[in-house]
Amino acid sequence: MNGRICPATDENILIAAEILKSGGLVAFPTETVYGLGANALDPDAAAKIFDAKGRPRDNPLILHVSSIRDAAKYGEMNDCAEVLMQQFWPGPLTIVLFASDEVPELTRGGLDTVALRMPSNTAALSVIRCAGLPIAAPSANRSGRPSPTTAQAVAEDLDGAVDMILDDGPTSIGLESTVVDATRLEGIVILRPGGITREALAKVVDILDGDDDEEADLRRSPGTRYRHYAPKLPLILWDGNPSALSPLVEDKRWCFLGLDTPSGHPLKAVVFDSVEEYARELYAKLRELENCGADVIIAELPERSGLGEALRNRLERAAG
Ligand code: TXA
Ligand code: MG
Repeated sequence: MNGRICPATDENILIAAEILKSGGLVAFPTETVYGLGANALDPDAAAKIFDAKGRPRDNPLILHVSSIRDAAKYGEMNDCAEVLMQQFWPGPLTIVLFASDEVPELTRGGLDTVALRMPSNTAALSVIRCAGLPIAAPSANRSGRPSPTTAQAVAEDLDGAVDMILDDGPTSIGLESTVVDATRLEGIVILRPGGITREALAKVVDILDGDDDEEADLRRSPGTRYRHYAPKLPLILWDGNPSALSPLVEDKRWCFLGLDTPSGHPLKAVVFDSVEEYARELYAKLRELENCGADVIIAELPERSGLGEALRNRLERAAG
């Protein structure tokens, strides 16, 4: 069983829940990316996540729950959080609230807050329900690698370090959840753009700018301190302006990801039909293009609206 990819059948979901209850690690699908799960209430189990990923211990984990009622056990509820949960759960929205004493310090990365999310993937919900526990889960990649959107990508990064990989095929959104700070009374702050767009959030709550004080912002969203989503090849961003492309690729063997067919002669060009498809495929294509023999990957930046905001954010961070 160790580390093996297992289809997300009812039987394997029960086995996964048993592994989690006994302190083991299970990689499981969500609608965003695959997560690396452990019992969030057991510091020894959560510690294994940090070790397997090579993740800094001050970067807190998201608690995955299967109901709003369970979320209220671990976070201090307020009207704004209630509205967000009613509107967007289950789904790709992670809500940061003040933590209850039940949440171990390691899971919170030493903060007084906790990040909560109820995923919509049915295998994920079944695992959480069968285990009867909140499941701490970051993306199931080694720290600094693109997040995994297939069970095979999890195995590439974490083979041997995880007790079971539940396979439910490629994830449907492909970028991580939106993380919002809902601890303030006046409105929310978006800490990480993601699967739920700014436009959708703005219809139900007020969105505040982050703190002016950069240090306060970093404290609130520790993950933003680290370089993320880095492919093994240099990634260069292209703004879509045709005349700006040739200076970027001059004298290079290059490959391409984007929404418009590029001029010139890339070794390989992946052209998507929509921002949604670009988001869904981004991480898998970055992993694939690393091995295509090119020196650099050129990635086209989408418009900032809708899911484009999260996509740009990941591309910018992958480019470093
Ligand atoms: O879609 C997702 O969110 C995936 C799936 C598996 O659910 N998970 C994920 O986890 O992306 P991770 O650990 O890769 O990213 C979680 C982000 C990090 O940037 C972390 O710093 C932030 O959420 N975070 C977690 N707890 C926090 C807290 N209490 N306050 C502020 N930020 C927090
Ligand atoms: Mg991650």
